[in-house]
Amino acid sequence: MTPSPVRSQKLAGASVLVFGSPLAACRQAADHIARIIHGAEREGRSPALGLATGGTPVPLYARLVELHRAGELSLQKAVSFNLDEYYPISPLDPRSYRHYMHQHLFRHVDLPANRAHVLDGTVPDGFTVQHCAEFDGWIEAAGGLDVQLLGIGRNGHIGFNEPCDLPARDMMALPSRRVPLHAITLEDAARDFGGDMRLVPREALTMGVKPILASRSILMLAFGARKADIVARALKGPVISEVPASLLQSIPGRVTWLLDEEAASRL
Ligand code: GLP
Repeated sequence: MTPSPVRSQKLAGASVLVFGSPLAACRQAADHIARIIHGAEREGRSPALGLATGGTPVPLYARLVELHRAGELSLQKAVSFNLDEYYPISPLDPRSYRHYMHQHLFRHVDLPANRAHVLDGTVPDGFTVQHCAEFDGWIEAAGGLDVQLLGIGRNGHIGFNEPCDLPARDMMALPSRRVPLHAITLEDAARDFGGDMRLVPREALTMGVKPILASRSILMLAFGARKADIVARALKGPVISEVPASLLQSIPGRVTWLLDEEAASRL
């Protein structure tokens, strides 16, 4: 059974659902994605899924795998686009997001390999611009995203769209592209690189803010006390590029925040 939130509220045009545990929130999010997939199936079209990495959605992928193993979910007709990837990085590197997706989802389900798109950390230096533009073209060719999963960085980033000083309107128009990583991101990513910040790639390829905001629905997951501050700034503060997740306020009615009590503690 899909777990119910402990409480819910509308904030800044978004639905905010607070759950008793990250597991309950992830289960709700996975079941929501399963419903989107089933709905598309009934309409005879391919569901387009925007996927995320990080520690936060791990139980969500476990639930999707469980549904697949129980014969209740097929990804055969789906197409997926991941939010981001380090640059440069080999897909064989266990710290790559391609590897993460393989470990947590792709190798366990029936999503065809040629429909699971992850920005490529191995494209030659001179071709990253072209590669990212093609990536946006593939999302458009798929008819846009039915759902985009998001996590939030401690600095408010979505994907690897890092805080910046652009006018908010300009940031909302950013396409997928190559970006330098923010100091807080490098610090947080260090845990995946043996605790050594110097080993974290200095750059990444990220889905742009524009294709993220164009998704027909967005599920934002955030858990734990370390996210409480930034969650409150994103939902209750002004819409500014210094807090990229605050830009989600510009698409009322399409965003659901799934939080645990700790992440929701400053709302
Ligand atoms: C990472 C990723 C984001 C992710 C976020 C939160 O750097 N680029 O896509 O959502 O930071 O990560 P975590 O879930 O591990 O807190």
